[in-house]
Amino acid sequence: MNTTTHSGKVALVTGGNRGIGLETGRQLAELGFTVLIGVRNLAKGEAAARELGGNVEAIALDVAAPDAAARAAAEVERRFGRLDVLVNNAAIHYDPSARALKPDWTMIREAFETNVFGAWRVAVAFAPLLSASGHGRLVNVSSEGGSLASMGAGAPAYSTTKATLNALTRILSAELRGAGVLVNAVCPGWVATDMGGPGGRPLAQGAAGVVWAATLPDDGPTGGFFRDGRKLPW
Ligand SMILES: NC(=O)c1ccc[n+]([C@@H]2O[C@H](COP(=O)([O-])OP(=O)(O)OC[C@H]3O[C@@H](n4cnc5c(N)ncnc54)[C@H](OP(=O)(O)O)[C@@H]3O)[C@@H](O)[C@H]2O)c1
Repeated sequence: MNTTTHSGKVALVTGGNRGIGLETGRQLAELGFTVLIGVRNLAKGEAAARELGGNVEAIALDVAAPDAAARAAAEVERRFGRLDVLVNNAAIHYDPSARALKPDWTMIREAFETNVFGAWRVAVAFAPLLSASGHGRLVNVSSEGGSLASMGAGAPAYSTTKATLNALTRILSAELRGAGVLVNAVCPGWVATDMGGPGGRPLAQGAAGVVWAATLPDDGPTGGFFRDGRKLPW
């Protein structure tokens, strides 16, 4: 893909100050997008944005705060007048050693607030701008841990939130199809980040599948679940 293709377009990546979100922002900026990284801590976010270079900015967006998405959408509309790509990347509480029969309700509620309701609120807030783009792309960064086909014991908070995010992906894709917005869920694979721990694949490889879904052509898929551009079972 050549770098001029996306110049003039604006992309927002939630949880963009580190990990897969930051690398996704870097790759989108390389493709010519103006990139906004949504962050909880604006000072840290601005430092991260500076590292990425000229067309990357941080924007305050704690997805777990009920009004933050609407505030961020109003700011993006006022300052940029458009949004072409939304990447719902922010997530917490990978809990592989936890068990559903010994539920930590605080952790489970926090996981839903960020991983599901956060992504949902951000999608709602930015849907009008994505629709107005005419070529909007919404990527929900999910996980194979949310695949019902392979679900087993453990990670009850994380897996149920990602399964719910996948369901939301299907519904949003149907509701936004008429506006030309392609909505897909993407598993980045096991990636070496603070969440993934050591041993996973490099950031660039994990983020590439997210960028693939963010830059689909108009006749690309919608309502799907992918890793590295290939379908995953629900
Ligand atoms: N790493 C893997 O192996 C793997 C595998 C499958 C799926 N994933 C998915 O990939 C995505 C990124 O994961 P990662 O490994 O890069 O995780 P990470 O290194 O833990 O980074 C998570 C990011 O989300 C942000 N965040 C958390 N809560 C937030 C909130 N309420 N509002 C805004 N931002 C918030 C964090 O910001 P702070 O710095 O403020 O905490 C951080 O920037 C997640 O959706 C994850 O579930 C990762």
